[in-house]
Amino acid sequence: MKRWFIVMGLMSISVFLYFAIYKNVSQTDIVFDDEQTELDDQVVIYFSHVVAENTPKGLAAQKFAKLVEEKTNGRVKVEVFPNGSLYSDEEEIDALMRGDVQMIAPSFSKVTELIPEWQVLDLPFIFEDYHDVEKVFMGRIGKQLLAMLEKKGIQGMAFWSNGFKQMTSNRHLLIEPQDFKGLRFRIMPSKVIEEQFRLFGAKPIVVPFNHVYKSLEKQEFDGQENTISNIYSKGFYQFQRYMTVSNHGYLGYVVLMNKPFWRSLPKDIQKQIVAALEEATLWNLQQSKEQNEQQLLEMKNNSNIQIYELTDKERKVWKEKFAPLYKEFEKKFGSKLLQQIQNDKG
Ligand code: LMR
Repeated sequence: MKRWFIVMGLMSISVFLYFAIYKNVSQTDIVFDDEQTELDDQVVIYFSHVVAENTPKGLAAQKFAKLVEEKTNGRVKVEVFPNGSLYSDEEEIDALMRGDVQMIAPSFSKVTELIPEWQVLDLPFIFEDYHDVEKVFMGRIGKQLLAMLEKKGIQGMAFWSNGFKQMTSNRHLLIEPQDFKGLRFRIMPSKVIEEQFRLFGAKPIVVPFNHVYKSLEKQEFDGQENTISNIYSKGFYQFQRYMTVSNHGYLGYVVLMNKPFWRSLPKDIQKQIVAALEEATLWNLQQSKEQNEQQLLEMKNNSNIQIYELTDKERKVWKEKFAPLYKEFEKKFGSKLLQQIQNDKG
């Protein structure tokens, strides 16, 4: 019996020692194994944006993330946060400057609060088509715009597209300038856009993108302007009975990076990020053309929204009515940038 107790005692001690040693070894393995060391070295980029995943910006951000991971063999990981899930459009520039996120891609209008000269990009009919857009942003103007950001302590990386803006309303079709009279329109924060609606006798109201769907549902305003891709992907067309295809304004993005973070990256990683962005940028431009076309068809065929395409003659009337905005811009900011854009496009 005594011997039996001794055997049992020894067995328990060995079992205890086995688990104690095994556990220790396992912990040691987890802390020091190769994979973990590599993960410690991994650079993680948080990329926050406010639109849906299935949009030119949402898809380009995902494509960029994939390309960066491939080009750096996993040394850089880009985590994309869509739909304003991290920061709303009102918060994202501050979040970037604080370094709470490393990348964002706000629309030009949202940069105008920081750099008022960027309002030039919101002037109605400043770009006639994608050809104009490409020429302007890929040339000297693109460089100048990025240099303005640099002075504000932000690293400008690239220009992405969401396409041209259209007008929607839940009151009636918007064809003549007088059709806008007295209606309330949701706008992005931009003085030029505010004036654009005032010229047509409408009341502009700045509303963050994340609140547009709910505000439309509650009928807090009568209409809004946006790209087909945003109108479609966010379901705005469900609460708007009329859409005018006017292509009167361009909704573009600037891809931004936190400057100290960018500077802290090794040169070879910076090179791969730039290469990935160049590829994603070309892809995004093509994607924005195709997606807006496809989703216009989708809305024509499968929704109740009544769609009207402005004739050239009607567009001309809008253009003439908007002419004072150009004069106003020149008065405030001088004519150099505006002139350069006019010369370089087309
Ligand atoms: C808007 O506020 O309507 C757009 O700027 C949203 C976006 O990022 O496309």
